[in-house]
Amino acid sequence: MGKKIYDLDNVIDRNDTDSLKFDFAVRRGRPADILPLWVADMDFVAPDEVIEAIAERNSHGIYGYTDPREDYYAALASWMRKHHGLEVKPEWVTVTPGVVFALAAAVRAYTEPGESVLIQQPVYYPFTEVIEDNGRVVASSDLLYEGGRYHIDPDDFEKKIVRHGIRLFILCSPHNPVGRVWTRRELEKLADICERHGVTVVSDEIHEDFIYPGHEHIPFSNVNDWAGEHSVICTAPSKTFNLAGLQNSNIIIPDRRLRQLFRKQVAAAGYSQANTLGLVSCRAAYEHGEDWHEQVWRYIRANYDHLRDYVQRELPQLDIIEPEGTYLLWLDLRRTGYSARELRDRLENTGKVWLDGGEIFGACGEGFQRINLAAPRSVIEEALVRIKRALEK
Ligand SMILES: Cc1ncc(COP(=O)(O)O)c(C=O)c1O
Repeated sequence: MGKKIYDLDNVIDRNDTDSLKFDFAVRRGRPADILPLWVADMDFVAPDEVIEAIAERNSHGIYGYTDPREDYYAALASWMRKHHGLEVKPEWVTVTPGVVFALAAAVRAYTEPGESVLIQQPVYYPFTEVIEDNGRVVASSDLLYEGGRYHIDPDDFEKKIVRHGIRLFILCSPHNPVGRVWTRRELEKLADICERHGVTVVSDEIHEDFIYPGHEHIPFSNVNDWAGEHSVICTAPSKTFNLAGLQNSNIIIPDRRLRQLFRKQVAAAGYSQANTLGLVSCRAAYEHGEDWHEQVWRYIRANYDHLRDYVQRELPQLDIIEPEGTYLLWLDLRRTGYSARELRDRLENTGKVWLDGGEIFGACGEGFQRINLAAPRSVIEEALVRIKRALEK
């Protein structure tokens, strides 16, 4: 049988599916007819093999407690080895109901209340939430935006570690929202500084399967021996295969002590057995989802090309931060002259398009917006027309 070609142009009605993206606009203070391109899930159906595996499991009809077995770990290890050169031993893996859950557990595992935890803003806003909600304090070594590209400032990074007595750093790799795929040199530099100061690194690698040509994702634990022994690697099939609602992620911790501390916090949160359909979907996706993922990622990159051409033609006041990874795109709207509040009002109420305002990723994100490119082309086209309308004087 030939390879299945997915029709990614097909617009699927997601209304009335309890979708966070589609069914909660009014409850979240937005117009009912807004076009949502904010939260990071895709408007594409999952791979056929995942849907079939779930249907087969459903036909059994018993949903008792479940835990992963050998085939689950083998599927995970095989994907990680093939796509990221990452070795994963079954005993290193802790299944959690999401990466954010794992970040929160890590904050509790590796720091005490009142301590500061280091992040790099602008960054995925739940990083701040899991730190503050657990009674810790955010310290940010903001990324530098220079020459249209984001960089790490190693001197500032080290200064912040010393000044705030940092013992835990949460890395976003690839970086949401700025779309950087960190180079080996950059990661080595971070690892060297963290080693010097005894800082544990939790690396959120949930976007690792969306890497633009010419870039390479390097799992933090592969950077060097020290990094392998002092890091927690957060992975999940949820972004890669659009399975966020099934709440399954795989947290890889090679070091025994770090693993024990982490598991203690997972248990303290009252979580033990994994979600039945989360396990089924994860295994099926890693075993059979490669073709689907290749097609989807190629399609999203073509969406980006389309957006870039449109912006060059029709929205010259807008600067695109050239993406290296993730299906999210970070846009600089500061040359429009509108404040963050005006931008939000214009986009949401005039244009009727729902993006994520840059300021929620940290104060340094003000004047920026994040747009999700994982949608049918016609949706992206419509969004661009709406953005243009919103920004007209
Ligand atoms: C960097 C990053 N981490 C974690 C998540 C969410 O992970 P989960 O749904 O597994 O908690 C997202 C979703 O957008 C993300 O961008």
